[in-house]
Amino acid sequence: MIEIDEVTKRFRRNNSGKQTELVVLEDISFNVKDGELVSIIGPSGCGKTTFLKIIAGLEPKTKGSIRLNGKEISSAGKDRGLVFQTFNLFPWMNVQENVEFGLYELSPKERSERSSRFIKLVGLESFEKYHPHELSGGMQQRVGIARALAIEPEVLLLDEPLANVDAQTAEKLIDEFLKIFEITKKTVIYVTHNMDEAIYASDRIVVLSARPGKVKEIYEVNLPKPRWNYEIRSLPEFGALRYKLRDSLGLAMK
Ligand SMILES: Nc1ncnc2c1ncn2[C@@H]1O[C@H](COP(=O)(O)OP(=O)(O)OP(=O)(O)O)[C@@H](O)[C@H]1O
Ligand SMILES: [Mg+2]
Repeated sequence: MIEIDEVTKRFRRNNSGKQTELVVLEDISFNVKDGELVSIIGPSGCGKTTFLKIIAGLEPKTKGSIRLNGKEISSAGKDRGLVFQTFNLFPWMNVQENVEFGLYELSPKERSERSSRFIKLVGLESFEKYHPHELSGGMQQRVGIARALAIEPEVLLLDEPLANVDAQTAEKLIDEFLKIFEITKKTVIYVTHNMDEAIYASDRIVVLSARPGKVKEIYEVNLPKPRWNYEIRSLPEFGALRYKLRDSLGLAMK
């Protein structure tokens, strides 16, 4: 269980000798249950990436508290895996080396067993020795997921993992990812700009307002599961929720 309580983030900068402050997140509060997939959706610049970095322990918060299983998060840890907006693979490392990056504490044998297990899970067996530039965007994002999973985190933090692949690949990958999250029993926080993707994948959707990002609305997604077994995009409930989301994101025409 992740408990997020009144998290606020302000960036201070020195503007030619004058101190200025940018309030990026304000009083963000919500919980994420074990095994739940919660999406975060909100306008560009509202602080979504900053928020994930705070949960990952890579960015300090200004105020508030974030507890994972009752313990305050204060630094990066192997209980949380982060996948970035851009693929963020090391270009000089092959697939296997990229996936093994966070596994330096394991013996070489354990390391290669672990990486081959997750490379197989994301469907990239036989590409172990390929370098990122020899892979498609979708394949690179699969490597990113395998790398995050390989440290066996309890929580996966995904920052628009499908933003840089084409629409068809994204539709295929989301099904693959949902299956993998179910098999590996992950708790997932999923940042996306895509309303359909958020509805399709989520148990709940947190809508943030424009900067400073505040929780504007939280929607429960009560659609059948597993999602890949149903044509849920054509259900009336899907359309109704999409309409509400559009409205709370300020996209509906008045
Ligand atoms: N290290 C930093 N120092 C100062 N300001 C920052 C820093 N990182 C982010 N910001 C500011 O915080 C705000 C939120 O940035 P962030 O990247 O979290 O937004 P986002 O919601 O992820 O946007 P997008 O949807 O475009 O990815 C922006 O205005 C940005 O300028
Ligand atoms: Mg971002």
